Amino acid sequence: MVDLIVSGSSCQVLSKEISDELNIELAMVESGRFPDGELYLRVDSDIKGRDVAIVQSTSKHQDSNLFELLSLLETIKTEGAKEVTAVVPYFGYGRQDRSFAQGEAVTSRVIAELISKYADKFISLNLHKSTILDFFDIEAIEGDVTPAIAEYYSTFGVKDAVIISPDKGASGLAKNLGKHLKCEYDYLEKKRIGPGRVKIMPSNINLKGKNVIIYDDIIDSGGSISEAVKLLHKQGAENILTACIHPVLPNNAITRLFTSGVVDLVGTNTIPSQISFITVAEIISKMLK
Ligand code: R5P
Repeated sequence: MVDLIVSGSSCQVLSKEISDELNIELAMVESGRFPDGELYLRVDSDIKGRDVAIVQSTSKHQDSNLFELLSLLETIKTEGAKEVTAVVPYFGYGRQDRSFAQGEAVTSRVIAELISKYADKFISLNLHKSTILDFFDIEAIEGDVTPAIAEYYSTFGVKDAVIISPDKGASGLAKNLGKHLKCEYDYLEKKRIGPGRVKIMPSNINLKGKNVIIYDDIIDSGGSISEAVKLLHKQGAENILTACIHPVLPNNAITRLFTSGVVDLVGTNTIPSQISFITVAEIISKMLK
């Protein structure tokens, strides 16, 4: 059983919540930058013989967070930990899980191979594609946060909603949330026509006067959801609420979503953000037991 949590800089509150859930120590990590910008790290806890989990999402700034994760893994291994688990709540680069054109780097695989070099086990939540797990040479598992999202809507009092995913890839998520909330579900057909620009085709369900929850794994620029909102309104949807697991949300993406007509926007704290109202601490803690 894990007995020490080490937090990377991207997940400090979540790490504290996990250490509280498991009632185990949260290590102090001194970190800073040398004058030329290079990273300095020091884990200020006894590590020898311990079962350690390092929590770090590879969200923005992805490369820097990834390097910090790898450096922490290597340090803890070298200091004599019995077992090291890499907990990566949001696995950045997950959308580049295959070569879409000849010569393209499959960056998901590169990261998986690097993590496998230093960690004994890998844990993540709702990977963009579960096939990413196959890139790891170590035990690699993925959890699902949908029950926590369903609980949010139950507490919020949303019933009789239709759950819609903005593309076929996320249709399993909509189905899953629909089952938890005992609601109908469907998905839209999405065609990407440029960065942050998509074309969306209608749903088959009659949405007239209905509350709709759009559910996706990632919201990035907000382009997919804002196009979906326009279409769903045209189809007669009344209130449109939106949930995502990983709130990437750069620049003005949140404003883009609200001005497109979304009335409630929620995400989890796999990436800390202004809409991270749902914590994944309990789900990760269970996976660490
Ligand atoms: C893509 O397949 C993902 O599941 C999301 O739908 C996508 O990343 C959302 O991107 P954006 O918010 O920029 O439309």
